[in-house]
Amino acid sequence: MDFYDYEHRLSRPVRVKIPDFQTGERLNHIIFADQLTRPTIERLARTADRIRTLSNSTEGCRFLRDLLHYKRAMLYFTQPSTRTFLSFEAACQILGIACSEVRDTKTSSESKGESPFDSMRMFSSYFDVVIMRSKIPQFAECCAYMMNDLRHTSRRNVPVVNGGAGADEHPTQALLDIYTIERAMDFFDERDSSNRTLLDELRRRYPGLRKGIDGKIYGFCGDIRRGRTIRSLTQLLSQYKNVSLYFIAPPGTKLGLTQDLRQRLNDRGVDVREFSSFEERDDGVPVIEKLDCLYMTRIQREHNSAEDEQEFRELDLSQYKLTPELVARMKSYAAILHPFPRDSEVGEIPTTIDNDSRAHYFRQARNGMWIRAALLAYLFDSDSTITDYYDDFTREIRDYNVDAI
Ligand code: NCD
Repeated sequence: MDFYDYEHRLSRPVRVKIPDFQTGERLNHIIFADQLTRPTIERLARTADRIRTLSNSTEGCRFLRDLLHYKRAMLYFTQPSTRTFLSFEAACQILGIACSEVRDTKTSSESKGESPFDSMRMFSSYFDVVIMRSKIPQFAECCAYMMNDLRHTSRRNVPVVNGGAGADEHPTQALLDIYTIERAMDFFDERDSSNRTLLDELRRRYPGLRKGIDGKIYGFCGDIRRGRTIRSLTQLLSQYKNVSLYFIAPPGTKLGLTQDLRQRLNDRGVDVREFSSFEERDDGVPVIEKLDCLYMTRIQREHNSAEDEQEFRELDLSQYKLTPELVARMKSYAAILHPFPRDSEVGEIPTTIDNDSRAHYFRQARNGMWIRAALLAYLFDSDSTITDYYDDFTREIRDYNVDAI
């Protein structure tokens, strides 16, 4: 595709591009993980919590469904997707946003030679937000520039949300991953009381353990080079204090950490370490036993060249699969995440692990729905309406409980 008009903007460093996607502190388009600062993540996570709680009652659901019933979203997903597509669709349904979709350009006018830019401009005529995934790297970014140019000439334009682009960026996945990690590292237990909390109990075995994302060890295993979810998540994690990122991949292969990401993380002062297996020792202890969180990914086989196929055939990937025995050796509170899909042929996470309390990947997918709903509410400037309603709603419940007592 011809990006000629956008070339000079595309070639800039990400930090220079970021102001193009926001007005002041407020994000207009969601294109890069680096746009998501800690305060923004915090704001979206709290909105997600409120949406989640409100969704437990008929009244709360009704409020949410009315909130944005006058908005329409286009889901333009021309690259395969299950979770990102469906969780955005479900998020729209929660907020009453009507959705339409194009998932295959064979059924759109692109099959008659229409340019994807024309398609995009048409979507902006009918809809109020475009959520998109394309196999063309940087296409979502260019669409955001196109919308900005339209805005500058006072023509109709809408926010663009990147639902996964090339091998580089998947900002909303990183957002749901961080939200999942935050919840997992909250060590909240329904049976917590003033005499005993789960955290107190864990501290007996793991002295010095603290709540939160800061100060923990995060392991990444699988296709580190080509997995866009890892790139985006590590960028978000690099904003937290004293985090260590451990990358586990077969050495000297096409799966390991790229120099570019290594450099980017080093520049941000992150403690980056690379290991060839879960058994390799770090300060004398096997890596698997040191991790607070393990982020597994699948090998991105669809991107293999003939040469990659050959190289991977010769590799013993069995060492990069989780087993119930390995999981049993992990810290009792450690969280196992996976963006999914998992590869049922390779079996990087066998289903026998699914019911272990450390397996968070199904919860992670559901968290995606809540935080994407929060993101849409934010983009339409309605998250403060949710907060106000939530405060009244919980105050009423509290008052009712006090009266009942
Ligand atoms: C990921 C993606 O598309 O990058 N899936 C997702 O969005 N949950 C991961 C993958 O395809 O491996």
